[in-house]
Amino acid sequence: MSSSGDDLFTRDDHIFENKELLEINHLPEEGRIVGRDDEIADLANAVNPAIFGQSPSNLLIYGKTGTGKSLCAKHISERLVRVAKEEGVTAEFAYVDCAQDNTETQAVQTIAHSMNNSEATDIKIPDKGLSTSTYYKRLWQVLDKQYGVVLIILDEVDKLDDDDILMQLSRAGEAGKLTDCKIGVIGISNKIKYKDRMDERVKSSLCEREFVFPPYDANQLRDIMQARSDAFKDGVLEPSVIPRAAALAAREHGDARKAIDILRYAGEIAQSNSSETVREEFVVQARERAETDRFRELIRGSTPHSRYVLQALAVLSLNESDEDGFRTTRIFDVYEEICRQEGSDTLSLRRVRDLLKEHAFLDIIEQSRQSGGSAEGSYTEHQLLEDPDVVQKVLVETVESE
Ligand SMILES: Nc1ncnc2c1ncn2[C@@H]1O[C@H](COP(=O)(O)OP(=O)(O)OP(=O)(O)O)[C@@H](O)[C@H]1O
Ligand SMILES: [Mg+2]
Repeated sequence: MSSSGDDLFTRDDHIFENKELLEINHLPEEGRIVGRDDEIADLANAVNPAIFGQSPSNLLIYGKTGTGKSLCAKHISERLVRVAKEEGVTAEFAYVDCAQDNTETQAVQTIAHSMNNSEATDIKIPDKGLSTSTYYKRLWQVLDKQYGVVLIILDEVDKLDDDDILMQLSRAGEAGKLTDCKIGVIGISNKIKYKDRMDERVKSSLCEREFVFPPYDANQLRDIMQARSDAFKDGVLEPSVIPRAAALAAREHGDARKAIDILRYAGEIAQSNSSETVREEFVVQARERAETDRFRELIRGSTPHSRYVLQALAVLSLNESDEDGFRTTRIFDVYEEICRQEGSDTLSLRRVRDLLKEHAFLDIIEQSRQSGGSAEGSYTEHQLLEDPDVVQKVLVETVESE
C-alpha cells in the first residue's frame, strides 16, 4: 500500500497480464491466427504479383461477421508490404472503414491522406474543402511519386453510398490515371446480396477473385482463445472458461469476435467482483454483453428501413412470446405501422423480404419454409435469433443518437 492510503483505485491488476491481446483493434501476430492457413495462402496467391511491382488481382472477401475477414486482409497486406520491400519494391497499403467513410469523397480523402508523406511529395491533403476530382488527382500523384504498388482495403464496402470509387480505383491503371504505381483493391463485405446490386462493369473489375470465409467451429474458437490466453495472469483462467465461451460463441455461427469479447468481459467481471479467478459463471454474463455489442456493430450504418424491419420482428417476438416464427406479411404490417410513427414512406413488400434475407445472412434472424396445407401453399417464417430485448434496446438507442 502506498503512503497516501487512497483505496479508491485498484493499483494492481491481478487478472490481466496483457489485456491488449483481447482488445478489439488488436491485430494478432502470425502465430496467433488460427485456422485460416488456406484462406491466407489463397489471398497471398492473388496479390503475389505485387511483390515484383506488378498488378495484384482485385479481390472481394465475403463471410459472416467475426470470420476473420478484416484480420486476414490486414495481415496479408502487412506481409506483402514487407516482402515487396525485400524485393526492392516500395509498397504500402491503406485501410478504409467504409461504414465510417461512406461517401466517395471521404474515402478518397482517407486513402490519399494515409498514403501521403507530405515531406516527400510536397502535396497537401486537407481534411475537407477539395472537390472529389481534386482529391483523386492528388491521390494519383501521391501514389505515382512514392510507390511501386499499393493495396487498398475497402472494409464493409457495401456501406459506400455508391460504387464510383470502386470503378475509379479498380480501373486507375487501365484508364491511364497512374503511370508508375500499380494498385490492387481488396473489398470486404458480410452482405450476401452485395454483389447482386453491383454495377456489371464494377463487378467485372473488382471481383477478379472471390473468397468466402466460413464460420469457425467450436474447436477453432477454442484454439483462437487459447492462443491469446496469455492475456491473463498465470492460473487465473479456470479450465472450463474457454470451452464454455467457445460453445456459446459458436451457437448462432462461429464468430471469433464474440468469442474474444466474451473472454475479455469475463475477465472484467472477475475484476469488478474482486474474484481471484475467472469463473465459468462469469462467461454467461459476459456473453450477454458481447451479444449487445455484436448486434450494435452489425446494425451500425444500416439504413433506417433495415432497422424498422428488425424492430417489427422484435415487437412481434416480445408481444407474442409463445410464437416461434412470424410470416412476412405480419412483419410487414408492423413495419408499416413503425414507418407511420417515424413519418417515413414504406418500402415494397419485396424490398422488405430482401432486407429480411440480409438479416438472415447475418444470423440476426432465421428463416424457415412452412407448409400451410394445400389451400395456402408454402410460406416463409422469420424468427429472431438475437434476444428481442437486446434488439429493442440497441435500436432505440440508435434512433436516439441520430
Ligand atoms: N483465425 C483467427 N485467429 C485469431 N483471431 C481471429 C481469427 N479470426 C478472427 N479473429 C479475431 O476475431 C475478431 C474478429 O475478426 P475480424 O474483425 O477479422 O472479423 P470480420 O470477418 O472482419 O467480421 P465483420 O464482418 O463483423 O467485420 C478480431 O479481433 C480478430 O483478431
Ligand atoms: Mg470486419
